[in-house]
Amino acid sequence: MCGIVGAVAERNITAILIEGLKRLEYRGYDSAGLAVLSEQGLERRRRIGKVSELQAAVAADPLLGKLGIAHTRWATHGAPTEENAHPHFSGHDVAVVHNGIIENHEELRDELKGLGYAFASQTDTEVIVHLIHHLLKTTPDLTAALKAAVKRLHGAYGLAVISTSQPDRLVAARSGSPLVIGLGLGENFLASDQLALRQVTDRFMYLEEGDIAEIRRDQVLVWDQAGEPVQRETVQHSEGAEAADKGVYRHFMLKEIHEQPAVVQRTLEGRLGKDHVMVQAFGPQAAELFAKVRNVQIVACGTSYHAGMVARYWLESLAGIPCQVEVASEFRYRKVAVQPDTLLVSISQSGETADTLAALRNAKELGFLGSLAICNVGISSLVRESDLTLLTLAGPEIGVASTKAFTTQLVSLMLLTLALGQVRGSLAAGVEAELVEELRRLPARLGEALAMDHVVEKTAELFADKHHTLFLGRGAQYPVAMEGALKLKEISYIHAEAYPAGELKHGPLALVDGDMPVVTVAPNNELLEKLKSNLQEVRARGGQLVVFADEQAGMSNGEGTHVIKVPHIADALAPILYTIPLQLLSYYVAVLKGTDVDQPRNLAKSVTVE
Ligand code: G6P
Repeated sequence: MCGIVGAVAERNITAILIEGLKRLEYRGYDSAGLAVLSEQGLERRRRIGKVSELQAAVAADPLLGKLGIAHTRWATHGAPTEENAHPHFSGHDVAVVHNGIIENHEELRDELKGLGYAFASQTDTEVIVHLIHHLLKTTPDLTAALKAAVKRLHGAYGLAVISTSQPDRLVAARSGSPLVIGLGLGENFLASDQLALRQVTDRFMYLEEGDIAEIRRDQVLVWDQAGEPVQRETVQHSEGAEAADKGVYRHFMLKEIHEQPAVVQRTLEGRLGKDHVMVQAFGPQAAELFAKVRNVQIVACGTSYHAGMVARYWLESLAGIPCQVEVASEFRYRKVAVQPDTLLVSISQSGETADTLAALRNAKELGFLGSLAICNVGISSLVRESDLTLLTLAGPEIGVASTKAFTTQLVSLMLLTLALGQVRGSLAAGVEAELVEELRRLPARLGEALAMDHVVEKTAELFADKHHTLFLGRGAQYPVAMEGALKLKEISYIHAEAYPAGELKHGPLALVDGDMPVVTVAPNNELLEKLKSNLQEVRARGGQLVVFADEQAGMSNGEGTHVIKVPHIADALAPILYTIPLQLLSYYVAVLKGTDVDQPRNLAKSVTVE
């Protein structure tokens, strides 16, 4: 995912732009660049690789300017070369940086070529800068030209534009890719993530979908989607809210649980078209590679493995693609027989887990069609060594027990399912549009699930003196139950096992008594009635039931049965939603037990050794 920084000030802003880019580097990059309006006109530096390369280039050949834009790039159209790095210029008059994907770039490219524009890159972005340049001939105001230009763009964008004709301003547009304005004193800034601007301000104005902004040193004007002038709220953030401190929360884990609506929103941004997933979000070669995929092999460890197990249900049931999932430590040492045309998908929060990396490296010898990393760290080894990447964009996760990394992995894997199904034409009619709509609503639904916080806190009391717990789920909720059990054992040290509910009679029922609570996730789907019968089997043995049930599932409290109602959600997305109460449950049990929630004994956040 790319990053944008912009500034308009009375001082030289080059160092501010570079510092901002560095703060966005965690998202991944393959090249970086900046353009400033100096006394010589528009000047730029671009480099392949890390922001430090760009910084060295600027140190060697300094740029001075009071207006500028900068970008870290994550290639979608065109290889990571200097020519393809942003900012893109049209002549020496206009410069643009862009996050997102312009879907109708080919058509616009032909049109602009017809108007005499020569293209210097393979990017989709370059059409934007020439289009604005062309429009400026008849509409000399930069904001008006941008407003006209975005009407021609299909796809997702966060845009920042500067022009020599109006050297006092920077203009911006947001559609599907976030932008935030940082408000200073006599200077203002723009970025794709407020993290980039923490060094210069703590006051922010978030642009909304369809907004256009004109940012000058002493004034910010915003127009909404309908072209009407609007005031967007100014929000003040005390420093460090994103990562380094716990804010109002007692533990990082609780903070990260509560961040999920916002980070899931970020995972989705720039990746959804009107009624489809943007395949290019997986990288420039994704469409070509995905078209050949006939099987998927997933490898991962720990929580990431559970995300892979959920994905298997989705890939097979929605996209009709056979899928295998294996823990990386097993896969790497096994003699694997690979089906033809199999895509290797590795899932990892850190991108540095030794077994997952080794599995990817070994796989290179095994004849896979290609590799895709679903990863939270853009500068990780896993990302570097995979053919394609989808960053989960959960932001830094500090709590050792993974929470927001898991739900953003699930969202990313749903995007993968829809993208593969789309390219291969294997989705049932209407499914993609419907799930895209549901995905858009997901952050709000996760917010509703978080409102269960206090009810779950109360329920946790049932577990504080227990030594064993059983988690049950069916279908895609089985891996959710596994993840629930893993969370509980990781941070409360209570022994927890997960079983597919149908397996209960084949062994674990022997363990059930009044001392072993049984936790169940029960969305309202075709397996609900079967699940209810399994729960009767538990009750008949005196087992205490804690059931997280769909509000429409017709389940209610009874003797030994605690039902916690969960907001209704489309079945395909239920694994994401039901994860939240299970995270809260383990958190509150651990708090009651007084364990070290954020750094449980014997565990590490990133397991870089075998
Ligand atoms: C460790 C962490 C887990 C994580 C697993 C895999 O065990 O404690 O939270 O799920 O490693 O890590 P990865 O970074 O590859 O997702």
